[in-house]
Amino acid sequence: MCGIIACAGVRRASEILYKGLCDLEYRGYDSAGISVKRGGEIVTVKRAGRVSAIECARRLGGSAGIGHTRWATHGRPSDENAHPHCRGGFSVVHNGIIENYAVLKEELIAEGDEFISQTDSEVVVHLLAKYYRGDLKEAVLRTVARLKGAFALCILHEDFEGFVAVKYRNPVIVGCGNGCFAASDMPALSGIAARVAVLKDGQIAFACEGGFTFCDFEGNAASLTFSPLPPQARSGGTAGFPHYMIKEINEIPAAIRQTAAAFETEGCARAFAKLRRKKFSQVMLCGCGTAYHAALAAAYAGEELIGVPVRAETAGEYRYRRRGSLAGTLFAAVSQSGETADTVEAARTAKAAGALVAAVTNVPYSALTSVADIVVPVRAGAEICVAATKSYCGQCAALGLMFSALAGGRHYRQAKRALGEAEGMCAGAISHCAVEDVARACASASAVYFIGRGADYPAALEGSLKLKEVSYVPGEGFPAGELKHGPIALIDGGTLTVAVITDPALAEKTASAVEQVCARGGRAAVVCAEGCEPEGLRERAEFFITVPRSALFPAIISAIPLQLIAYRTAVILGRDPDKPRNLAKSVTVE
Ligand code: AGP
Repeated sequence: MCGIIACAGVRRASEILYKGLCDLEYRGYDSAGISVKRGGEIVTVKRAGRVSAIECARRLGGSAGIGHTRWATHGRPSDENAHPHCRGGFSVVHNGIIENYAVLKEELIAEGDEFISQTDSEVVVHLLAKYYRGDLKEAVLRTVARLKGAFALCILHEDFEGFVAVKYRNPVIVGCGNGCFAASDMPALSGIAARVAVLKDGQIAFACEGGFTFCDFEGNAASLTFSPLPPQARSGGTAGFPHYMIKEINEIPAAIRQTAAAFETEGCARAFAKLRRKKFSQVMLCGCGTAYHAALAAAYAGEELIGVPVRAETAGEYRYRRRGSLAGTLFAAVSQSGETADTVEAARTAKAAGALVAAVTNVPYSALTSVADIVVPVRAGAEICVAATKSYCGQCAALGLMFSALAGGRHYRQAKRALGEAEGMCAGAISHCAVEDVARACASASAVYFIGRGADYPAALEGSLKLKEVSYVPGEGFPAGELKHGPIALIDGGTLTVAVITDPALAEKTASAVEQVCARGGRAAVVCAEGCEPEGLRERAEFFITVPRSALFPAIISAIPLQLIAYRTAVILGRDPDKPRNLAKSVTVE
């Protein structure tokens, strides 16, 4: 995904845009650019590289402008492929994918247009230039009518004092204060917009000094209600921590507390207690990456609690599977951003097949919430680090509450009490887990493998993903029982295997997997919940980390040392844990 931002009716547009792009950089950071309106002309600066590569543009000034930070989909990171794209007095930034760009590009080239970039986005500015005959609204309407795919656009034109924002399947938040603003998310508007509104699919905003006017893609007038920028939308910077990742790990206790509170105040407890009478025949959980791991962890406990089949699948797989009716199915789509294309489309597909769709998300105004029948809020606050940490724990908490509310009665009270205890356990683990030695071992390992049984298997998957994505150390997570069926061939003195043990009933079995690793000269580390320690394991493993035991939320507690190990390994190796190479915070393209 990319980050877009726009402003109008301001004095130093370039400063506002640059600050906004710094706040949006977590969405993609392989090139950046801004265009500002100064007098009647548009000045554009764009470069490959981080936002800092256009630091020189801060001093451009201007009364209006647009900005973009990119995660490349079509065309490698380069100056030419950076946004904004300019033509015929227009300048355009785009987040999303124009699925029919090749056909449009061919048509435009046949009409004599010359393209500068390899991007899909450039076709938008060519269409605007083609259709503009003095009426900006008409040119925008004719352009959006030709586009297929997903597009959040911000547009400047030399004859228009402000900017135009267009929203279809990718987010655009508009804001007002001392000027008019638009951005891909709310944190980028903190400090500049006092009141915000979320554009809906098929809406267009025209912003100028006097304020906003809105219409739909047919040109019919529309209206939006603005409300104060919510406090949780403020990212608040790193607040003295060296990186967002360690700051957000430290925010896990608050994320759990706020998520549990919101489950009550947003009416979910009541709603799922009522849904208990629907007697779902099955529950499907879907997500990508870390969100999928939270779904998988919840599936283990959920099935035991409600006594019907509960399955978790990656959204990218689920959405393409052919299936019959989903009547009688509860489909929970899990997504921190609520913008991950595969997850949003999986939810759309499930809804069309008759499922009741729940959105479990940290972003209340996201695309996923517009698809869902019910929203299960995660209240982790803005998560800027590309690696999900506090949002993962918030998702595990929200899903646990959802299943316990469906199970009814004492189960929900027990879950709330267990979350209160887990909050304290996380605070303790954050301050007491000694991970430095394990992190050093990870940093020097040829590969790091994570193993676990039962609900510890998703924890192993998540530990492996965290380490890979922030430190680039290769590895894999898999069921402890699978080690001897092939992967054990990978074990040698250069590898480290991390075993997760939080279930006393499975502890001995996982301990024997650790023994198999050690017997072949592999290094071994164990993350073990109190009271689960198998005899002799502490002596056998090279590293042994003990965590408090939460019977109902083990994945939340075991996540703490695994996230800290990943973070410290990245720092030891000199990586940027907040903005790892090749990644973006949410993948809004397929
Ligand atoms: C998690 O650390 C990764 N950044 C990634 O796997 C992420 O969980 C995935 O892209 C899903 O994002 P979402 O939760 O916003 O849908």
